[in-house]
Amino acid sequence: MIVGFIGFGEVSSTISNILSRNGIQTVTVVKGRSEKTNIRAIKSDVQIIDSYDALVKGSDVVISANSPANALNVAKKVSKLMDNGIYIDLNNVSPDTTLKMSQLFEKPQETLPKIEEKHSFFKKQEDVDMRNMFVDGAIIGKVSNDSTTILFSGQRSGDLAILNNYGLNIMIVSNKPGDVSTLKTLRSLYTKGVSAVLMEAYEASKEIGMVDQLFEILSLTEGETFEEKSKSRIRNSYKNSNRKVEEMDEALEFLDKISPKGKKNFMTKAARDKFNDVK
Ligand SMILES: NC(=O)c1ccc[n+]([C@@H]2O[C@H](COP(=O)([O-])OP(=O)(O)OC[C@H]3O[C@@H](n4cnc5c(N)ncnc54)[C@H](OP(=O)(O)O)[C@@H]3O)[C@@H](O)[C@H]2O)c1
Repeated sequence: MIVGFIGFGEVSSTISNILSRNGIQTVTVVKGRSEKTNIRAIKSDVQIIDSYDALVKGSDVVISANSPANALNVAKKVSKLMDNGIYIDLNNVSPDTTLKMSQLFEKPQETLPKIEEKHSFFKKQEDVDMRNMFVDGAIIGKVSNDSTTILFSGQRSGDLAILNNYGLNIMIVSNKPGDVSTLKTLRSLYTKGVSAVLMEAYEASKEIGMVDQLFEILSLTEGETFEEKSKSRIRNSYKNSNRKVEEMDEALEFLDKISPKGKKNFMTKAARDKFNDVK
C-alpha cells in the first residue's frame, strides 16, 4: 500500500513515520514548500516525489493535512486528478466545507475503473451507483501522541480499518461524510475555548508573578495532571495560533449555520479573537 501526503507538517510527518515504521510506503511533494517542511521531509522516511499528479495517481490513499483555509482548494485540485483510491481530509474544517469537498469526489460508478484491479487489499466495493472516494477524518487530540485516535466517516471509511494493523488507532464512525467533522467541531468549541481562557489566566498570573500559585490552586480542584496538561495546551496555542484562528473561523461558520436567528456565539468569537491577538 502507498500513502501519499499533501502537506508535510506535524500531522503528516507523525502519521507517515508511524506507517513507514510498520512497513507502509509513504510519499509526499515538498517542491515550493517552506524550508521547515523540506527539512521535516528529508529527516523522515517519506519518499519525496516531484509532482502532485504522480502522488495522486501512484497512491492508494491520499491524505490532505495542510491547513483549514487551504483544504477546499487542495481537494478541488486532487479531485480532478483522482479516479480511484481513497482521499482523506484531516484538516480541522467545518461540516459544510467537508460536504463541499465530499461532493467533489463523488463520481458515477460506471465511469471509474474497478477498485480491485488496482487496490487489491481493499474489500470489493458493494454495489453503489455513485462511488465516493472522500473520507472525512479527524485527529482527536494532539497528533504527536502515538495513541492518538483518528476518526473516519464516509462510504469507504470501513476499508481504512486496515490501518489499525499498521500502527494507527482508527475508529470508524459511520459511512456519512460530515459526521466526523460535526463531532470534531463540537469538540473544538469546548477544547479551544478552554485553551483561550487558560492563556488569559496564565498571562494575568505571569504579569503579577503568580504562575506557580495559579497552577497550584487550580490543581486542587482540577486534578494532579492539570498543570502539565494545561501548560502543554498553552504552549501549543501560542505556537499554532495562526492555525487556531482558521479552525475557529470554521467552527463559527458551523455555529452560525445551526444557530437560531439572532443568537450570538460570544464564547467562540472571543476564543477566535484571543488566538488572533497572539498571532
Ligand atoms: N497538529 C495537530 O495535532 C492537529 C490535530 C488535529 C487536526 N490538525 C489539522 O491538520 C492540518 C495540518 O496540521 P499540522 O499541525 O500538520 O500543520 P503544520 O505543521 O503547520 O503543517 C502544514 C503543512 O501543510 C503544508 N501546506 C500548507 N498549504 C499547503 C498547500 N496548499 N499544499 C500543500 N501543502 C501545504 C505546509 O507547508 P509550508 O511549511 O510550506 O507552509 C506544511 O508542510 C490542519 O488543518 C490542522 O487543523 C492538526
